[in-house]
Amino acid sequence: MQQAIAILDSGVGGLTVVKEVMRQLPREKIIYFGDTARTPYGPRSSEEVLLFTQQIVEYLIQFQPKMIVIACNTATAVALEQIRAMVNVPVVGVIHPGARAAINATETGFVGVIGTEGTIRSGAYAQALKEISPHIEVVSEACPKFVPLVEKGMFRDEVTWKTVKESLEHLRYKPIDCLILGCTHYPFLMEPIAEVMGPNVKLISSADETAREISTILYQYGQLAKADDLPVHQFFCSGEPKIFQQIAQEWLREHLETAPVVWQVPNFL
Ligand code: DGL
Repeated sequence: MQQAIAILDSGVGGLTVVKEVMRQLPREKIIYFGDTARTPYGPRSSEEVLLFTQQIVEYLIQFQPKMIVIACNTATAVALEQIRAMVNVPVVGVIHPGARAAINATETGFVGVIGTEGTIRSGAYAQALKEISPHIEVVSEACPKFVPLVEKGMFRDEVTWKTVKESLEHLRYKPIDCLILGCTHYPFLMEPIAEVMGPNVKLISSADETAREISTILYQYGQLAKADDLPVHQFFCSGEPKIFQQIAQEWLREHLETAPVVWQVPNFL
C-alpha cells in the first residue's frame, strides 16, 4: 500500500497546496481533510483551533500517512509545535514556506501580509520573516470576509470584488513590493487581489514553497513515491460535500484526469 501525504485545512483552502503538490509530485497519494463543518477557523480562539487540529490529526493517523501537512495558516500559527510533538512523522506548516517565498521575492524589504484574524493576531508571519531576515519591514491586515466567500465558491462575483477592494483599501497605499497571501484560501481570489494591489506588488502564495519543502523532506527520508506507485487520492470533508466537491473538481481538474479521487464524509464530529 502506498503511504500518503495527509493534508488538512479548515475547508477548501488547503486545496491550493494540494494543487502544487500534485503538480510537483504527481506520484504522491494525498489524503485531504477539509473541516468544512467548522470553517472558518480565523475568528476562533487559539485553544479551539488547536483542539480541532488535534482531532483531525488523530483521525488522519489511522491511515498511517508518511507526512502531515497543516495547509492552514491559522492552524499552523497555533498548533504546529503541538502536532509535531503528537506524531512521529514529519509535520509541515505553511508559514515558514510563505515567509521564505516572500524573502526570495522582495527587493525593497517591505512586505505585506494578509490573513485571518487568528493568523494576524498571532504575529507568526512577522516573527518568521524576521527570524530569517531581521531587517524586513512588515505590514499586516486581517481580511475576515474572504474565507466565507471562498467556501461558497464565489471567486469572481461582484460582491467579492467589492469586498476585496474594501478590505485592501489601507494596504494598497503602503510601500510594499510583495504581499503574502497568508491564508491558503486566498489564492482562489488571486484575480481580484492582483487587480486591487496593482502590477507593482507581487502576490506570494505559500503553496509553491510548501510543496518544495514536502519534496525535499521526502527525498531526505528516502520516501518519495516510486515509479510504479499509482495514486488514488482520498478527500474528506466534515460538512455538506456537494460544494466542496465542486470546488475541488474545478480547482484540481487537470490533475484529476490522471489520478482518481475517492470522496468521503468522515464519521468524525
Ligand atoms: N485556510 C486557512 C488559513 O490558511 C483558514 C481559514 C479559516 O478557516 O478562517 O488560515
